[in-house]
Amino acid sequence: MKALVLAGGSGTRLRPITHTSSKQLVPVANKPVLFHGLEAIASAGITEVGVVVGGTAAEIEAAVGDGSAFGLDITYIRQSAPLGLAHAVLIARSFLGADDFVMYLGDNFVLDGITDVVDSFRKDPCDALLLLTRVPDPTAFGVAETDGHGNVLGLEEKPRYPRSDLAVAGVYLFTPAVHEAVRAIRPSGRGELEITDALQWMIEGRLTVRSTIISGYWKDTGNVTDMLEVNRTLLERLQPRVDGFVDEESEIVGRVRIEAGAEVRRSRIVGPAIIGAGSVVTDSYVGPATSVAENCCITGSEIEFSIVLRDSSFDGVGRVQASLVGRNVQVTLAPGLPGTHCLVIGDHGQVQISSWPSPARTPGHTAQGPYR
Ligand code: DAU
Repeated sequence: MKALVLAGGSGTRLRPITHTSSKQLVPVANKPVLFHGLEAIASAGITEVGVVVGGTAAEIEAAVGDGSAFGLDITYIRQSAPLGLAHAVLIARSFLGADDFVMYLGDNFVLDGITDVVDSFRKDPCDALLLLTRVPDPTAFGVAETDGHGNVLGLEEKPRYPRSDLAVAGVYLFTPAVHEAVRAIRPSGRGELEITDALQWMIEGRLTVRSTIISGYWKDTGNVTDMLEVNRTLLERLQPRVDGFVDEESEIVGRVRIEAGAEVRRSRIVGPAIIGAGSVVTDSYVGPATSVAENCCITGSEIEFSIVLRDSSFDGVGRVQASLVGRNVQVTLAPGLPGTHCLVIGDHGQVQISSWPSPARTPGHTAQGPYR
């Protein structure tokens, strides 16, 4: 069996991060989302992997390489434009050959991996097998109708009036029967060749399309809220370890990892949290569900429930929460401009400024956070 990983697309809901970077490479618990998927594929015993790449091909190829770091043999497949999930299957035809394959959406996260679903497809083959999950608002997903025994009766892509609460999660198992389906369908209203339409075509042609409902945690990390949520979930499983330097005036509480080469001085870190290699936290509070990547500098600041990408710095900044901060970002106080915000923000940036004075400027403030 082979795997086809989809790492193209445009990532509009993660702008401005995706102006300069691939959405699949945004780190959760300091590891790109895509790497978690590749590890899940390797754990399921699959080694031959095609990775579909688009405008961010160079960055993905630089990060993933030939796949040997994951125990995989990776072939890159260029997609000229994000023309749909079924289009990705269409262009991967020669790589896939006559093999069964698992298609894995590179921005999806399945906490318990895909070994169980791959094994059940191997043991009990059918033309296609989908992972489904119950969601409160199915309108943002492919939605399946089943007969209660796992047989899929019909599928719709992002329906306005969903027929069930069963969303299609981004893991699909296919026999080569899918190739005829992706050739037969036409682009949808949004101009994409939809894999849900290909599956519907298979169902109408009396091929067997089955499903299994994920019992564990699954998320599409396509937007900031879900990305922060996946980060929190992963950090809750983190093995706490201090490989870096923590001075005697600092306090580490709960599940915290301080990577080698990181430094924590006169600060309080409340887990689950990770401080990446080469990062320096001074006179600050880093609170639960926060990942600080490599070579960041947090000084006199407070941050929690956030993801900070590498080479970024915070200096003298009051409480930052529920934030996704890109690479090489500098957040500081505006010098000599009391009560003034001074912004240089990329296109499609989002800034929410507190209506209260910064606690960092309140006399007697000690940057200890609320958990003491
Ligand atoms: O996350 C699950 C959902 O994924 C399913 O419920 C939907 O049925 C399915 O269509 C898909 O919907 P999204 O709108 O979330 O798909 P998105 O455009 O985010 O693409 C998913 C992944 O595939 C992402 O890593 C980008 C990549 N991709 C996407 C397109 C459209 C490609 O590599 N090429 C493409 O042409």
